[in-house]
Parts: sequence; C-alpha cells; structure tokens
Amino acid sequence: MKASLLLLHIFFAMVWIGGMVFNLLFLHPAMKSIKNDEMKKEVAGKVLRRFFLAVWLSIAVLLLTGLGLWHTYRPDLGTNPLFHIKLFLFSIMVINFIYIYFYLFRKQLFRHIPNFVWINLILGILITSIITYIRFGGS
Ligand code: HEM
Repeated sequence: MKASLLLLHIFFAMVWIGGMVFNLLFLHPAMKSIKNDEMKKEVAGKVLRRFFLAVWLSIAVLLLTGLGLWHTYRPDLGTNPLFHIKLFLFSIMVINFIYIYFYLFRKQLFRHIPNFVWINLILGILITSIITYIRFGGS
C-alpha cells in the first residue's frame, strides 16, 4: 500500500513539475513564432485548459496521497521543520495556481501567466529537494 501511495504521489509531482518545464522551456519559446495574435490566444487557451485540468488533479492527488503517507507511515514528519516548510511551500504553490487559474487564465491575460508559472516551478523544485534531504537525514 505504501509503495502504491508513494508511486501515485511521485507520478503526479512529475505531471505538475514536468508540465511546467515543458510549458516554460519548450512550448512558450516556440509560441513566439506564431505571429497572428488571435491564433496565439486560441492555441494558448487550448493548451492551458488541458494542462490546468491536470494541475487540479495533481493538487488533489498530491494532497490525499501526501496526507495518507504522513499519517500512516511517517507520523514522525509531524515534528520535522523541513516537512513544515514543504507544506508551507505547497500551500503557496496552490494559492499561486488559484490566482493563475481564476484571474489570469479566466481573464485571458496569457502574457502574465509564464512569470507566475516560473514561481511554481522553482517552489516545486525546492519541495522535491527538501523531501530528498529529509529522506537522507540532511546529509
Ligand atoms: C508539489 C507538491 C509536492 C511534491 C513535488 C512532492 C514530492 C515528493 C517526492 C518526490 C517524494 C518522494 C521522496 C522519497 O521517497 O524520498 C515525496 C514524499 C512524501 N510527501 Fe510529498 N510532495 C508534494 C506535496 C506533498 C504534500 C501536500 C504532502 C502532505 C500533505 C506530502 C507528503 C509527503 C510524505 C509524507 C512523503 C514521505 C513518504 C515516505 O517517507 O516514504 N507531499 N513527496
């Protein structure tokens, strides 16, 4: 059971972080070659709608599997300050995503979205580094 929870947890961390890497480093630069503004908006809207659905799912799965792992297998993490930092950074990622989705995306302010996705990518990398250091006891 633990292996399945951890697998799901890691898989959806990959979906969210990998999706952000793909969007920022590969898709966004290539989109600049589309000169027609209407077409650019249409493509951006379609790509982001699909990706953001995956992000909502990732948030739900990361939270549920994370809580499951914590309460059943790693109750010791409750007193680990690094784990508290992980949860704090995760909350900022979720709040930032809510802003991206309900304000920038809904109002079609696509130009501003990459800057805020960069913030979440950096936080996601930080979270992954923190949990790795927790596993190896900070060494
Ligand atoms: C973007 C958000 C998150 C990312 C990128 C992430 C990433 C990861 C990764 C890569 C691991 C595997 C570490 C290892 O096996 O060495 C892990 C483990 C873990 N995560 Fe997360 N996580 C996120 C959110 C959360 C949340 C919200 C919770 C709790 C509510 C949580 C609780 C846990 C726990 C308890 C483990 C330890 C499992 C174990 O020791 O076997 N995570 N996380």
